[in-house]
Amino acid sequence: MGRWIKIILLAVAVVFVAGFVMLQASNQPTAPQQPIAYNHWQHVTSKDGPQLSCDYCHEYADKSAHATIPNITTCMGCHAAVKTESPEVQKLAAIAKRKEQPKWVRIYSFEPEADVFFSHKAHVKANVDCKECHGNVPEAQTMKREVKHTMGWCIDCHRQRNASIDCYVCHR
Ligand code: HEC
Ligand code: HEC
Ligand code: HEC
Ligand code: HEC
Ligand code: HEC
Repeated sequence: MGRWIKIILLAVAVVFVAGFVMLQASNQPTAPQQPIAYNHWQHVTSKDGPQLSCDYCHEYADKSAHATIPNITTCMGCHAAVKTESPEVQKLAAIAKRKEQPKWVRIYSFEPEADVFFSHKAHVKANVDCKECHGNVPEAQTMKREVKHTMGWCIDCHRQRNASIDCYVCHR
């Protein structure tokens, strides 16, 4: 093998490994500081809470590609009257009064360069549980990335469940 070919191959390998490391880094679990200390466990599981189902707030999960984060009017439907003495709820009420939305920091998303097509509707209709892709949300005090949404992970489940693994299904 010529010396230059070796150098070029080495350079390609370095770029490949660096890209891989960066993709992994973007998949590390993180619990970002949210504008309001919203607690899933308190609203879904706690005996003292309203024991809501996921679709009360993420109402588009079975209807469209995006599950969507609830509008502040959904929160204020209760919090105009519930826990009004709480400083966090007062922060929420102040945002609502300004007719704004809390600037929730997203937990799960793809790098735009990966050009991934994903749809909640298809998975919910196929009875794939929220837990398989988001971990144990009913027990979560703060939301963080519990599941790494790598390509290998998507494909493993697609193989197991006889869903398509053609490139164009996920990269349109
Ligand atoms: C009372 C409304 C409410 C209910 C009920 C609720 N959520 Fe949420 N959910 C939110 C809010 C607000 C956020 C954004 C703040 C955060 O990430 O904690 C969120 C964020 C999320 C996220 C992270 C989204 C992202 O990528 O940024 C996931 C996943 C999620 N919820 C899943 C669930 C599941 C699964 C259930 C049922 C077990 C559920 N939620 C029930 C309000 C709700
Ligand atoms: C097959 C895996 C899978 C399942 C099942 C799944 N999700 Fe997701 N969810 C994802 C992925 C992947 C993203 C990031 C999507 C993106 O950025 O386009 C996401 C993002 C979200 C978000 C953030 C923003 C949005 O509007 O999409 C919320 C909220 C959410 N999921 C809630 C839920 C709830 C509630 C359920 C159960 C009803 C659920 N998910 C089931 C994989 C899944
Ligand atoms: C169906 C009624 C209902 C809805 C809708 C609702 N909550 Fe709550 N929330 C409650 C109840 C009840 C509690 C008190 C639970 C407890 O005491 O354990 C609570 C507690 C809280 C707390 C903690 C208050 C404290 O200091 O103890 C925060 C913050 C909060 N909710 C934010 C939100 C946000 C943000 C939304 C919208 C995404 C929301 N809630 C939607 C009923 C609701
Ligand atoms: C735990 C299992 C599981 C995981 C994880 C999973 N999928 Fe799927 N996916 C399925 C099943 C089952 C179907 C087949 C639905 C059907 O046949 O209607 C499907 C179908 C799809 C479809 C076809 C939707 C349509 O329009 O018909 C797309 C696109 C897709 N998945 C993308 C993804 C991506 C991207 C990921 C990773 C971020 C992922 N899936 C992770 C189980 C999974
Ligand atoms: C079931 C869904 C699925 C299928 C099928 C799939 N991919 Fe992916 N692919 C993904 C997801 C999700 C990511 C983003 C992973 C991440 O962010 O870690 C990705 C990332 C990639 C990337 C990295 C893009 C970048 O620059 O970040 C390439 C290249 C790629 N896929 C090529 C392919 C090829 C070629 C095929 C067919 C052999 C294929 N994919 C099939 C889901 C899929």
